[in-house]
Amino acid sequence: MLQAPGDFAEWRRAARGLLAGGVPPDEVSWRGSEDGASLFGDAAGATRQGAASLPRELVEIAERVICHRDPEVPARLYRIIWRAARDRQLLARTTDRDVDWLRGADKAIRRDVHKMHAFVRFRRLGGEAGRERFAAWFEPTHRILRLTAPFFQRRFYGMDWAIVTPDARAIWHDETLAYGPGGMKQDVPDSDVVEDQWRTYYGAIFNPARVKIDAMRAEMPKKYWHNLPEAQDIAPLLAGAEARVERMREAAVSLANPLTDKWRTRVPDELALDDDAKTLGELARAVDRCTRCPLYCNATQGVAGEGPERARIMLVGEQPGDQEDLQGRPFVGPAGQLLSEALEEAGLDRARLFLTNAVKHFKFEPRGKRRLHQNPTTGEIDICRWWLDKERAFVQPDMIVTLGASALRGVMGKSASIKSMRGAVHELEGGSKLIATIHPSFLLRLPDRERAAEERVMFVADLIRARKLAA
Ligand code: URA
Repeated sequence: MLQAPGDFAEWRRAARGLLAGGVPPDEVSWRGSEDGASLFGDAAGATRQGAASLPRELVEIAERVICHRDPEVPARLYRIIWRAARDRQLLARTTDRDVDWLRGADKAIRRDVHKMHAFVRFRRLGGEAGRERFAAWFEPTHRILRLTAPFFQRRFYGMDWAIVTPDARAIWHDETLAYGPGGMKQDVPDSDVVEDQWRTYYGAIFNPARVKIDAMRAEMPKKYWHNLPEAQDIAPLLAGAEARVERMREAAVSLANPLTDKWRTRVPDELALDDDAKTLGELARAVDRCTRCPLYCNATQGVAGEGPERARIMLVGEQPGDQEDLQGRPFVGPAGQLLSEALEEAGLDRARLFLTNAVKHFKFEPRGKRRLHQNPTTGEIDICRWWLDKERAFVQPDMIVTLGASALRGVMGKSASIKSMRGAVHELEGGSKLIATIHPSFLLRLPDRERAAEERVMFVADLIRARKLAA
């Protein structure tokens, strides 16, 4: 008898004991508690230890699938682990009916988790002593609260919150995550000011040029709409999409840069190799004169880093983009705007950071009237490291955050993978710490809105980690 349907630990204790006792699946009758006993009651089950070892992947899948609402799940999972204990290759047998069912159920859970990550909306409850309290109501298809709560813990670490579902609630308070009984929609207020922020955000990411109604319905099924403040804007945004696209077409994209011509007559400047910069200002002027690689030929100007000389955190991007090249300042274009928003969410004051790039000149390919960004080569990054190293020597930051692969190479001086370095803090020669994360333009390029929202959350989490470590 399982007291708490969906509780993996309880099911595992029972299944382990049965497996160790050699009890075959057809001799076990699994039942959920009839009276809907609390998820937090005594979930006693068989406790014998010594069950056979199972493939790790299977244990991970079982931990998710136990949340499925199908009442047959405990029995089916037990049959699968019983079989897997005797057949290590079971999971690879894709035509096996049990395996097929398991994969399908796992997919349903992962989809449900994905939707919950994307569609939980917090309402403000007020708060005391500098800490605000928020609550959200959500009805997941399956009992996935325990699978999703850690995501919200990371994402909303700095505030107190509760997520109430019909089965259980998760409560994050005083930096401790706890679970309590389920509740009702009325337990959570219906609207508040955060609602406007969601609507503004949705309006900003709505791309009228890429309206695909079927894909939108699949991504944001109607059943979630009643809980989503931004859902009320969908109809008006769709109605105005065509006119907006027309306006976008008419608005000029930035023209090929007339200043570029000046380079045709330019003599490479000896001073560019000048090692004598005494201040960041002098260094910036030297960057602008740089002829160390051919990128200077087509760019408007060299774009040096910007920020206080005593900044504790240095953010390193890839290279100036179209707008940065014209204005001579880093991160002032669309990626810069996204970066500014993420910094604000992470509680970082942009004016107190030193922002720079691995490569100081804009590399692009002319296409008609437009200049299309091109990735710098490793050679170009390595040559430009000359300047990045000088900026690092001036600023001596405690923390360097690299945005994207080019930045990581620029700082490390060799190729390294963001995937393997992300999530950890690395020590650099000279005493700075390093956090490696993605480039904000990656978020702008992701066509899948939910994925982009998730990636953005992880990006902000990386920035929060940098802030805390630097503090
Ligand atoms: N992307 C970068 O990496 N740096 C900038 O300055 C702007 C966009």
